[in-house]
Amino acid sequence: MIKVLPVINIKGGVAKTTTAFNLAMLFSQDRKTIVIDLDGQCDLTRRAKVKYKNDLVDEDGVAVAKKTIIDCLKNPKKIKSAIRKTRYGFDLISGDEGLYGFEKTAQEGNTALAEVIKTLEGYGYEICVLDFSPSYSKFTIEALTSATFVIVPGEASDKSFKGFKRILNMAIEIMKNTKRQFLVGFLPVKISGKSDLETLEEFRSSPLGGLVLPLVIRDDKTNIRRSEKGRPLVKRSCKASDDYRELYSYLKKRGI
Ligand SMILES: Nc1ncnc2c1ncn2[C@@H]1O[C@H](COP(=O)(O)OP(=O)(O)OP(=O)(O)O)[C@@H](O)[C@H]1O
Ligand SMILES: [Mg+2]
Repeated sequence: MIKVLPVINIKGGVAKTTTAFNLAMLFSQDRKTIVIDLDGQCDLTRRAKVKYKNDLVDEDGVAVAKKTIIDCLKNPKKIKSAIRKTRYGFDLISGDEGLYGFEKTAQEGNTALAEVIKTLEGYGYEICVLDFSPSYSKFTIEALTSATFVIVPGEASDKSFKGFKRILNMAIEIMKNTKRQFLVGFLPVKISGKSDLETLEEFRSSPLGGLVLPLVIRDDKTNIRRSEKGRPLVKRSCKASDDYRELYSYLKKRGI
């Protein structure tokens, strides 16, 4: 069964894309892994160095590189030609700048994203990581409906933890409606200094403390920036790469 890992928080700039990218790279070392870029900013697509336009054409004469998540959501038959290989080990269905408008017009009750994920399972994918924009859409609900482990990255700030609580409430509602259980965890990111650790202690001793993952991604701007420019974290040792490896081992222990 494919394991689905949505990386979500309504708060912007909390390392969703960084987390999705590094986890996908780690999982792809021993499992067939795909990332779906569900963010209209297409940050992950850009970071994965997938060219948005190139001259490959499919049997219909349509430029393969132009097939994006929107084509897949409109017609699951397009999925195969939308899957892109990346140099980082994982495959990718690229984002699309038209996603914001598309989300608004997508019909309620439509299950296109769930169908895309099911089709990917049929192609042998074992891990599917979803990178989201910092907002909710009907695709957030659909992703939760298919989720195995929802990762909610956030800094040690009340605003980030509030974003986590909102996602958790949505997740609980979906679990009730679908009678299907999945895991949800708050991933503390960009942690540095005593005050961050104290705030985290408060989160951990709150009623939802058990859902704060027992690890942190430390602040490591220099190495993260380098990785964004194309020097993958997993290929070296630094605070951020050690922390993402720890997250990967933790997820494996939890059955992912
Ligand atoms: N561990 C870290 N330490 C320091 N800086 C980090 C860390 N992780 C990510 N960043 C920086 O934080 C910024 C936001 O990261 P990222 O793009 O992954 O966040 P995001 O949640 O995907 O943003 P958005 O909401 O726009 O999609 C980037 O400039 C990135 O370099
Ligand atoms: Mg992002």
